[in-house]
Amino acid sequence: MGPFTQMKIRERIRGLLVAGPGGENIVAAAPPVPIREIFRRFWPFTKPYRKWMALSLFFIALSPAIETLMIWMFKVIVDDVLVPRDFSAFIPIAAAYFGLTLLAGIVGFFDDYLSEWVAGRFLLDLRAHFFGHLHGLSLGFFDRRRLGDVLARLTGDVSTIESFVLSGVADLISNVLRLIFFTCALFYIRWDLALVSLIVTPLIFMVARRCAKLIKEASRERRRRSGSTIAVAEESLANNALVQAYNRQGSELERFQRENRAAFEASMASTRIRALFSPLVGMIELLGAICVLGFGVWLLTKARLTLGELLVFMTFMSRMYGPIRGLIQLTNSIYSASAGAERLIEFLDEEPAVRDGTKTLGRARGDIEVDGVTFAYPGHELPAVEDVSFAVEPGQTVALVGASGAGKSTLVKLLLRFYDPGAGAIRIDGQDLRELTLESLRDNVALLLQETLVFDATIRENIAYGRPDATDEEVEAAARAADAHEFIVAMPDGYATSVGQKGRRLSGGQRQRIAIARAMIRDAPFLILDEPTTGLDTEASWRVLEPMRRLMSGRSTLIISHSLMTVREADLIVVLEDGRVVERGTHAELVASGGTYAGLYRLHAPEHEPEVLPG
Ligand SMILES: Nc1ncnc2c1ncn2[C@@H]1O[C@H](COP(=O)(O)OP(=O)(O)O)[C@@H](O)[C@H]1O
Ligand SMILES: [Mg+2]
Repeated sequence: MGPFTQMKIRERIRGLLVAGPGGENIVAAAPPVPIREIFRRFWPFTKPYRKWMALSLFFIALSPAIETLMIWMFKVIVDDVLVPRDFSAFIPIAAAYFGLTLLAGIVGFFDDYLSEWVAGRFLLDLRAHFFGHLHGLSLGFFDRRRLGDVLARLTGDVSTIESFVLSGVADLISNVLRLIFFTCALFYIRWDLALVSLIVTPLIFMVARRCAKLIKEASRERRRRSGSTIAVAEESLANNALVQAYNRQGSELERFQRENRAAFEASMASTRIRALFSPLVGMIELLGAICVLGFGVWLLTKARLTLGELLVFMTFMSRMYGPIRGLIQLTNSIYSASAGAERLIEFLDEEPAVRDGTKTLGRARGDIEVDGVTFAYPGHELPAVEDVSFAVEPGQTVALVGASGAGKSTLVKLLLRFYDPGAGAIRIDGQDLRELTLESLRDNVALLLQETLVFDATIRENIAYGRPDATDEEVEAAARAADAHEFIVAMPDGYATSVGQKGRRLSGGQRQRIAIARAMIRDAPFLILDEPTTGLDTEASWRVLEPMRRLMSGRSTLIISHSLMTVREADLIVVLEDGRVVERGTHAELVASGGTYAGLYRLHAPEHEPEVLPG
């Protein structure tokens, strides 16, 4: 490949890397990782299959041997049958041919089957490991990453690893063995002719090396773009109502196409390199063949070589280029696979920001102590909460009040240990959260959020999500306590009714009552409610109030709410402003003191319940 084309292609790829045809970088490129390191990282995943891999290796080694023998038979035919015009040798030769072909077929079958099986199982394990790893990561990771890109890595990029560790190794071995067998055969026939034929091989490898690097760059870009394509698609389709309501289909399509096109360009760049490479190697091969033919014919005229030998020599030689090309192809595919592997390793190297503790917390008594907690989100200078202290006694209810962005939900995330505080500590039953295992901590907490999280499953499954081993009776009891039983049995399939994606087949109030039932069945000593009635209309919020009270009774509850109804009954109200506690006390005390809370309260006529605090 001329230096000019090479430069142009590289420029092309760089251009794409920097900005893409459309500007912003949706998904950043993963840091490069050396091939050896990639191999080292993923090799352990083959452990359960090493036995089978060894067997498959045996088949892999067998097939070049059979191939070599079959080519050799050709010489026997020419020299023992054709040239002497002797038919007697024909029958055994034909039989041997037949036998070898049969053997090659059987070996091919087992080789194919076994390697597919091992590769499939390997990917199964790797994907499961990756998925499990993702679920172990802290919330901060998902704040930083695009969901679509994560999905692309889980599906597309994972598959590329296989070509590394399994088919990569298999191809390498089978091609190297072919090369060795064929070269030996060449030298066995005529060493001097063999030397002539090998003259061009270094030339081929030189060209190959130049191409491989370019292909790697292009592949990296292609994998990255496929991540951003899916990221855009996911985001765009998930918000389809917004897109359609604002007539933004056109610009969404454009955004999608921009990423799509960039992936296409990158893929074309590597195709150009590959396409250019093939005829180039063809030329070099021809050069080698001509040299051999010339020298061979000369040897033939001097009677130092039989016709059969020359023919079989030429055959071996033409077959040699196959494995050479195969090896080069392999480097290319390994380089493109390494782009996917890098994206996987980037995520696998992510450590959960929150480290699991060692102490197991049984069923907690139920006191929470938030002690001088300060926390800033990763990458943010300003703390979201600063020096916050308060305590919840067993069975008590504490309400957090404050404008939107005051840091209320942040405190909830700290309590569930989605993040750890930068300073201060949160203690449950006197134990620092950081010392407890995440599992036992979260087992003690039931959570109710504003946007109810429901899965596309039946109502029963959604309620039992709080405790997967719950019986049907327990599910029903929880639903009754949540005032949900009636509307559930009125549905076509009762508890077996599917709620649809994100619970679209239910109203907001119904969804929230299902969520209350879920929290109820969990029967945890701590209850956290983050704006459970926001987003519900007045009537719906009235109707969840009673089941919510039932849920709260006997549990230590932290409630964030704009509804004065729920807040007023709290044992303690903590008022937050810009992440700091500005007031604390009971409803009566705070109203009497005439501070922020009293202002909010006065603003909203107390006669008309339920009023809503601004926020
Ligand atoms: N995942 C996040 N990453 C960075 N900043 C965040 C994140 N979540 C919330 N914040 C910021 O932290 C502050 C407190 O947010 P939050 O606790 O959600 O407020 P509230 O629940 O009181 O409305 C806000 O300024 C908000 O912008
Ligand atoms: Mg909030």
